[in-house]
This record gives sequence, structure tokens and C-alpha cells, in this order.
Amino acid sequence: MLHRLRPDLKPAATTMGKLFNCLKLNWRMLSHVLRGRWLGAADYEQGYDRLAGEYNTNWLDRLRPVTDRMLELLPEVDQFPEERLRGKILDLGCGTGYTTAFLEKRYPAMEITGVDLSQRMLREARKLCRRSRFLHGEMAAILREMPEMEYDWIISAWAMGYSCSTRVIRECGRVLKPEGKLLFVVNLRDTLPAVFYAYRRTLAQFPHRVTKALHPEFPVSAAELEKTLRRNDFAVEFLEEGAVSARPPESGQLAWLLKTGILAGFDQVLPLADDPETAAFFEAELIRCKLPFEHHYVMALGRKK
Ligand SMILES: C[S@@+](CC[C@H](N)C(=O)[O-])C[C@H]1O[C@@H](n2cnc3c(N)ncnc32)[C@H](O)[C@@H]1O
Repeated sequence: MLHRLRPDLKPAATTMGKLFNCLKLNWRMLSHVLRGRWLGAADYEQGYDRLAGEYNTNWLDRLRPVTDRMLELLPEVDQFPEERLRGKILDLGCGTGYTTAFLEKRYPAMEITGVDLSQRMLREARKLCRRSRFLHGEMAAILREMPEMEYDWIISAWAMGYSCSTRVIRECGRVLKPEGKLLFVVNLRDTLPAVFYAYRRTLAQFPHRVTKALHPEFPVSAAELEKTLRRNDFAVEFLEEGAVSARPPESGQLAWLLKTGILAGFDQVLPLADDPETAAFFEAELIRCKLPFEHHYVMALGRKK
């Protein structure tokens, strides 16, 4: 109404609108916090359950080169200390079982356990891995129930950031045997700037559609992870910070993102999959922002002292 009468006031009105939405968003977030409604494990589970059947072609293949480099840090069987050849390995957030299958093949005599919170991802993993056992649940909670000094190796590819990485590293330190190793690759909090910029803009545009409060768990930096490892009695044998491109197709970017897992959980907080107006706004911001479409990650190998 205002801008029809005074076109020159439109920018101010837009700014006021933004300010109002910002206040509304903060209020909305606060009310979710007070009710204990947080983005959490159940949301990630639903997100990954939904896309499990397509995960390998839509996502795993893009990250495979980095995942493979991580797996190269595992010793060949003939370099493995004799006493560990019949030991135990844990794969946290094993997903559809790509890394678990690698472990089965490389270490035929070791006992391998995959952990994941999505039953559907685990169903895919079971098709691929014949002799591993799988546990369904949240990784930090499952680790907490495990006895001390049980495992020789723990690995985790692209999953630790969904849990509290500090807690997960601490628990890994407890369940690993002395000289046992923890190998992981994890996204940092500033990963995929284009996606999370568009996401934040969409939250601010539609505060009334936000269903939960968010507190991103992803670790902040390589330095923070290194400190956490050292504090939990790990010697850091390898630490790499890197970026890998995740360019989406020219069109249908949101539909593609929803199939990859990048927005798993976050799509429960905003109706990106169900509401055309929210989806269109998100996609327009994504195209407009021109920020990098890159995973920013850390790969690390720690030896329990
Ligand atoms: C990006 S996928 C990675 C899967 C697999 N490691 C790979 O490299 O292809 C993340 C996986 O972590 C699982 N996940 C997410 N949060 C988790 C948690 N807190 N505990 C256990 N698994 C979790 C998801 O269900 C999903 O299968």
C-alpha cells in the first residue's frame, strides 16, 4: 500500500519489512527453544530415509574421490600389527555402506560394525556388505553404551558433523584400544556457502514457516578439531583441510539438493520440498548469490596414546 502512494519509500518499506521479519524470526526461534523443539537426530533420520535409494548416484559418487583418499590412509593388511588382524572396526554414519564394504574387503578377518541413524540407508548397506553387523541409532549415544577399549579402528565419512563432534571424539577415545586409530572426514560449519546463504535468507523471509530452532553442530575449524583430538589423548598423525566442488545441475537445483542429503534435516525446518513459494524463493537466492558451491572439509587421523 505504502509503495503505491510513495514509490520513493519502497526501499525503506522493504528494509522495514526485513527488520520486521528478522524480529519475527528471532521470536519464532526463541519460542521453539523454550518448547525444546530443535533440529536433531530424528530430522536427519527422516531426511536420509527419504533419499536413501538415490544417495549413491546423487551424492556418494561426487564425494567418492575424497572418501577414497581417506580410505588410502588405512594400512594394507600386511602393514597391520599381527595382534590387530582379528580386531574390531567401527564405521560411524556408514550410510549405504561404501566405506564398510571397503573395510570388509581389505580386512577379511576383522569384525566390522556399521552405525547409522537411517534404517533405509542401513538397508542399502546390508545389500552391499555381507558379513558386517549394523547398529541403528545415533552415533554418540551408541558409543556411550560401548565398553572401554573395544575397538582397534574407528572411521567416519561425512557424518560426524551431524552429531556433536567433540562428544563423538571423546567417546571414540574411550572405546578405542591404546594405539587404536580414529580416521574421519567431516564438513566444517562454513561448508557450501551458497546453500546455507540461501537457506538463511529463506528462514528470514518466511519466519512463520520455521518449525524448529537450529544449532549447527558442524565443527568450526581444523584447529578446533585438532585441539579436541589432542585434549582426548590422540596424537594427530594426519590433518588436511580442503574444498571439493559440489556443482549442481543448471536447472532444478533445489530438487537435486533435496536428493543428495545436503539439506537432510534442514528440509524438516522449512517446507522446501512441500511449499512452492518457499522453494521458489530458496532457489532464486541460490542462483542470485554467486557464492561458492563447495564442501569445506577436514580429514584427520588420530592415534590413541
Ligand atoms: C553424508 S552421509 C555419509 C554416508 C557414508 N559414510 C558415505 O560416505 O557415503 C551421512 C550419514 O550419516 C548418518 N547420520 C547422520 N547423523 C547421524 C548420527 N547422529 N548418528 C549416526 N548416523 C548419522 C545419515 O543417516 C547418513 O547415512
